[in-house]
Amino acid sequence: MNQRQETSLTVTRKAIFWKPCRRMTAMLWSLLFVIQFFIIGIFIYQGSFKNYVYVQLSKYQKVNEEHFDSTLENCLIRDTSEPAPKPKCPVISPYLIGYRKPVMDDEIHLVETLQKYRYAQCGGQFRPSNCEARQKAALLVPFRDRQEHLKIFINHMHPFLMRQQLEYKIYIIDLDKEIRFNRGVLLNVGFLEASKEADFDCYFLHDVDLLPEHDHNLYRCSELPRHMSVAVDKFNYRLPYLTNFGGVSAMTKDQILFVNGFSNKFSGWGGEDDDLYNRLIFHNMTVLRSMPDVSRYIMLKHDQSPPNAERFKLLRTGMERVMQDGIKNLKYKISNRTDYLLFTYINISF
Ligand code: BGC
Ligand code: MN
Repeated sequence: MNQRQETSLTVTRKAIFWKPCRRMTAMLWSLLFVIQFFIIGIFIYQGSFKNYVYVQLSKYQKVNEEHFDSTLENCLIRDTSEPAPKPKCPVISPYLIGYRKPVMDDEIHLVETLQKYRYAQCGGQFRPSNCEARQKAALLVPFRDRQEHLKIFINHMHPFLMRQQLEYKIYIIDLDKEIRFNRGVLLNVGFLEASKEADFDCYFLHDVDLLPEHDHNLYRCSELPRHMSVAVDKFNYRLPYLTNFGGVSAMTKDQILFVNGFSNKFSGWGGEDDDLYNRLIFHNMTVLRSMPDVSRYIMLKHDQSPPNAERFKLLRTGMERVMQDGIKNLKYKISNRTDYLLFTYINISF
């Protein structure tokens, strides 16, 4: 091969090699060109998605305001007139917003809460104005010396329950100072006093320091007693033990009467909820629980009360007393009852 031939061969080789290579480079550039449009498109889409979420939220906010504002006739006791017939509220309320971190600010003032939730201002009761609630609930909250928790609780629970389109009333039940705290007695009293006032479908046995975080945690009763506070932050959002029935639970009037309510004997901290669980099992009932991702609660911080040393003995012998000890044999006096605007306060003595 002579010099010329060799050069032309190299050129041809180069051409063979570079031609597709150039084509590939061109293709790559066009691909990048197209991808760039995709990326810009995604950014624009995300922006409008954010706007979309924002619009959705403000729409809900508006709906909520309208919903609360049109509820002037919700004073169940003072309003003696027959309510106008309304359609049943939907099974799932359109006002639910899912997870919402509870406001636990020390700066909550009940005066501001009052202004916000002015349509729940007859002893803390509410009913939706535009539809008939599917259930009427009484929130029974045992109480002692926890003013700072009470205002956070009240501020949180009103909008939470309103968004669920419930008809409800909040009862705070307290014992005279010199009597040892007794959660079982207070809840029994709450049940008896609330039942005198209205025919509630559901009673919530509710600690003041527990705030539901997710409003798909529907405050409704079922055909079996329900344990609501399945996942509490204090217990790492896990059930502390399988038979736990404390914190927040929901029972119908029939279910409470069937087991004779709580035992009245558990003074001090602990055991009364375990005894109630034993009562349910004793009466062949089981307990329902919803999914932990929805049944989430935050527990407000407090010092641990001294546990009742007697509780294990009482628990062992509990089912021997179940027929007498409870709602049936409870005697109490009401030493103070005040219908505050956002809750009804009942103080008892013996
Ligand atoms: C007590 C219950 C309490 C539970 C979770 C148990 O040891 O007996 O009354 O609800 O702990 O704190
Ligand atoms: Mn607690």
